[in-house]
Amino acid sequence: MSLKRVHNIADLRLAAKKRLPKMIFDYIDGGADDEQTLRRNTAAFRDIGLVQNTLTDVSTIDTSVEIMGAKSALPFVIAPTATSRLFNPRFGERAVAGAAQQAGIPYSMSTLGSVPFDEISAIHTGPKWFQLYVWRDHSLVEALLTKAKAAGFTALILTVDTPVAGNRERDPKNDFTIPPVITPRTAWYGAQRPGFMWDIVSTPMIGPANVEAPAGMGVVDFINSQFDPTVTWDYVRWLRGVWDGPIAIKGISRPTDVEKLVEAGADCVWISNHGGRQLDTAPATIDLLPEIREATAGRAQIVLDSGIRRGSDIVKALAMGADAVAIGRAYLFGLAAAGEPGVAKAIEILQTELERTLALIGVPSVKDLDEQILHRNR
Ligand SMILES: Cc1cc2nc3c(=O)[nH]c(=O)nc-3n(C[C@H](O)[C@H](O)[C@H](O)COP(=O)(O)O)c2cc1C
Repeated sequence: MSLKRVHNIADLRLAAKKRLPKMIFDYIDGGADDEQTLRRNTAAFRDIGLVQNTLTDVSTIDTSVEIMGAKSALPFVIAPTATSRLFNPRFGERAVAGAAQQAGIPYSMSTLGSVPFDEISAIHTGPKWFQLYVWRDHSLVEALLTKAKAAGFTALILTVDTPVAGNRERDPKNDFTIPPVITPRTAWYGAQRPGFMWDIVSTPMIGPANVEAPAGMGVVDFINSQFDPTVTWDYVRWLRGVWDGPIAIKGISRPTDVEKLVEAGADCVWISNHGGRQLDTAPATIDLLPEIREATAGRAQIVLDSGIRRGSDIVKALAMGADAVAIGRAYLFGLAAAGEPGVAKAIEILQTELERTLALIGVPSVKDLDEQILHRNR
């Protein structure tokens, strides 16, 4: 499917579906258990309406924000996602970082990124953020942070909604594992996507590029052994001592946690339900934003993700008090469909929709968005 035929993120999703073997498409597209949170994340934005300020001068639109110590040309950033080479074996994270650099927005790299830090910093010279999972081995984490810092990563995102992996049932149904294994089913899905399979077999093995397993241990077993379900807010206090840049805590859904976050010295409340991939029946993040904003009371910045598919979704989140939003699947669909031009297309779609929405509601700068332009549809 040519990018010329792509007019919105939903089209980009279909283009990704045509390019990827089923088990890999479903890995991006799917959520946990009954996928209720996944559906709710997007439906909740539709439940909020927008009203217009008429006859205001909207000849110039300002979409720039400052977030986690960085300037961003747009009020959305790249959310961290693991192992991007699974979706685009040739370029993976390089394609995403390249498109983010072009757009002038921060790039976030997952702990489980499949391209070395240095390659990313050669491509993306602007503000870059490193996402960390809560891992058992402090010396390993410190070594990772040192590498990230040396490569120019400016802020840290600690993901806290993953003490154990969510139950994503599409994966076992499709025989999908990381690293992928060949079964009759995955072979059949792969055979239907020869272009993608050629990219897999003609490029280096896909796996985490910045984390090394000890001798004799497989990298996946090693990673799983590192997830630490015992940690508490002390971990954040410890991190605060070893990382001197801004820290965001990703996966916040309760006002009481905001209090702990501020007390532990973190700088940013990242409201997320991991795109519906972790705790199913968790509320949509946009529904949680008002009470979290109230609890935050300006003491930390707020980033929101999960369910952003339209420029108007971004407007709604900012109007309700987020300082910026993050996108996950929206750019992953672009990456899978067409590499860097696909990611650039995702960003361009959201930017165009955002600018058009701001003009239509008569608010020429994102800084002037407030709840007065919102209307509850129910
Ligand atoms: C395929 C995939 C992989 C992800 N990997 C990570 C990860 O490694 N670390 C992390 O903090 N979040 C990860 N996430 C969650 C995203 O950062 C983000 O919270 C989510 O995608 C936002 O929802 P959206 O996809 O509806 O935009 C992943 C999401 C997807 C779809």
